[in-house]
Amino acid sequence: MKSIQPALTGQGNLLPVTGNYVLENLEVLEGNSVKLYRVLKDSQGAFKADPVTPSSAKVLSAEERGKKLFLIDKDWKSKLFMAQASFDALLEPLLAQSPQERNEAVHDLKTMLADLKNQETEPLVKAQAIMDSVSRTFLLNKASLKLKPQEVTVHEKTMARETEAIVSSALEMADDPTLVTGLFAAFQDLSNGQTVNHVMRVFASFTGFLRHYNSLHQHRLSQTLRKVFPAVYLESYRRLFPNLHARWMISDHLLQFPAMGFLQMREYALGALLHDIGKMGNLDYFESDSAYDAQQIRQHVFLSSGLILMNYGSEHGPARLLAGDHHNALGHPSGYGVSRLDKERTQRPQVETVRCLASDPDGFATGEALGYLPSEMLAVVDIYDAMIDTSRTYKKAMSPTEAVAFLEDTMVASNKLDPVLVDLYIDFLRKQGVELPDNRGFDYKTGGL
Ligand SMILES: [Fe+2]
Ligand SMILES: [Fe+2]
Repeated sequence: MKSIQPALTGQGNLLPVTGNYVLENLEVLEGNSVKLYRVLKDSQGAFKADPVTPSSAKVLSAEERGKKLFLIDKDWKSKLFMAQASFDALLEPLLAQSPQERNEAVHDLKTMLADLKNQETEPLVKAQAIMDSVSRTFLLNKASLKLKPQEVTVHEKTMARETEAIVSSALEMADDPTLVTGLFAAFQDLSNGQTVNHVMRVFASFTGFLRHYNSLHQHRLSQTLRKVFPAVYLESYRRLFPNLHARWMISDHLLQFPAMGFLQMREYALGALLHDIGKMGNLDYFESDSAYDAQQIRQHVFLSSGLILMNYGSEHGPARLLAGDHHNALGHPSGYGVSRLDKERTQRPQVETVRCLASDPDGFATGEALGYLPSEMLAVVDIYDAMIDTSRTYKKAMSPTEAVAFLEDTMVASNKLDPVLVDLYIDFLRKQGVELPDNRGFDYKTGGL
């Protein structure tokens, strides 16, 4: 162990802290072997700093504890966050558990959320609890779900049932708009580039977006759209449907925007929670420029969809479509997904594509529509999140302003996202306090509902 010169600590990125600070963080400092130095004067009166253990702060007098006698890595907290939240590190202990233990864990989360739902607790506290439970639930599912039908037992069925109940509670709680805003405030900036953080944010944002959509629906969304469509959106849809007869180029026909019932929303929210469950833990690192493996990335939608079918059963078709088709890109050649592959494989005669969004899985499966409404909603949320993510190793994060510009000027302009859904999402983001330029979004373009 070598002394360091405090005078040089600027270079070492070290911060002076008190003994009290060390004692407050004792457990985590020790548990993670965070480097700590004690500042001392040597016999010549010069300062030096020796490496010490955090518990050495215990022997200080009360007066000494208040003085800044220690030096610590300025970024130790964020380094710890990055290290501890690594996907594999989170997953490993869960993989080591028995199926019964994992089911008990998910059961406890369900009970805790159900209790919390009925309590008068601050929205921010509730938001934190929801997101903790949701990310835990995602990891428990990841550790539990089986890929082979013969391996699926009553344990996986229990996991599926409890997860549904957790999604229900989260969705019920998201009925409170202040809570949705709280979810945003708490989690938009928290990222270490790992799948589980992405899933958490996408789940929160998507659930809020569903609620927002539904409230717009009650406030004459279809009527407003019908009125402004020719002036505002027709051109964009012309690009998607260059040959469609003019009588079909109306919003009522192109876009199926029905009200969504609670059970439907729950199904979609479940799909959002599980949409990337087939991603490998370290997939985000494969997405670097140097090691971009398109094949491996594409694989996750098939895995996610297969896992849902196998472990949640065939009654969860819509959730499966969200997982399997969230990279559908409105049928653009650059997109991919389960339905597309099914269509190619079965080669069943396709009906003419005459609408952009179908609200029922069949309308999409037959080829009548380019996209399935909730999958395309998820795609908007998913891409926005990937763009603002500060920690993806393969690209620089965009600001929210840049990200919405990208959604509209690149993704919509190249026919990969639905123009109206992108505008509705921009308004939703603004409602959550995200600062965005005034000249974007549905409200701006239509003059409000
Ligand atoms: Fe994905
Ligand atoms: Fe995703």
